[in-house]
Amino acid sequence: MSKLAIYPGSFDPITNGHINIIERSLLIFDKLVVAVAINASKNALFTLEERVAMIKEATRNNPNVIIDSFEGLLADYVAEKEINVIVRGLRALSDFEYEFQMTFMNRKLNRHVETIFMMTGLRWFYVNSRIIKEVAVAGGSVKGLVPDVVCERLREKYPRYRERNNS
Ligand code: PNS
Repeated sequence: MSKLAIYPGSFDPITNGHINIIERSLLIFDKLVVAVAINASKNALFTLEERVAMIKEATRNNPNVIIDSFEGLLADYVAEKEINVIVRGLRALSDFEYEFQMTFMNRKLNRHVETIFMMTGLRWFYVNSRIIKEVAVAGGSVKGLVPDVVCERLREKYPRYRERNNS
């Protein structure tokens, strides 16, 4: 039986830190569902469709990545898909409390699910979607921190980014 795990997140947008976790997860699992949360409460920079399209493009060489989206509780989605392992990346200590709460809440909601953590690659330790958005919207370059497709979409969407980042 092939080993399956899920990597859930907002991916607004996907970063090279996410890609690093995806690639390393696939050294352990045969297939990885990258599941984009439809999170109405968050102020998203990219639409769900844009986020999914960027993940597709950034992972197009990896046939073991399955991209999906979900609305509502992650615990329900994994139960429906019969997935028992959630993968999450951990950067600094500051991630810990939130991840700790989520892990226990997910486990309370679905006692079959286990969450495992991977330390984010050292190169991407300071990279998260929030800081990428903040810098990019103000025109700062995020080249090298996100897949090229994200830079392209930022250029298309944000004149300020385009003006200051032509290549
Ligand atoms: O990349 P993020 O924003 O840190 O991912 C958080 C995410 C999407 C995994 C989390 O917010 C989530 O699972 N949302 C779905 C709704 C849900 O199940 N909430 C309760 C989690 S305990």
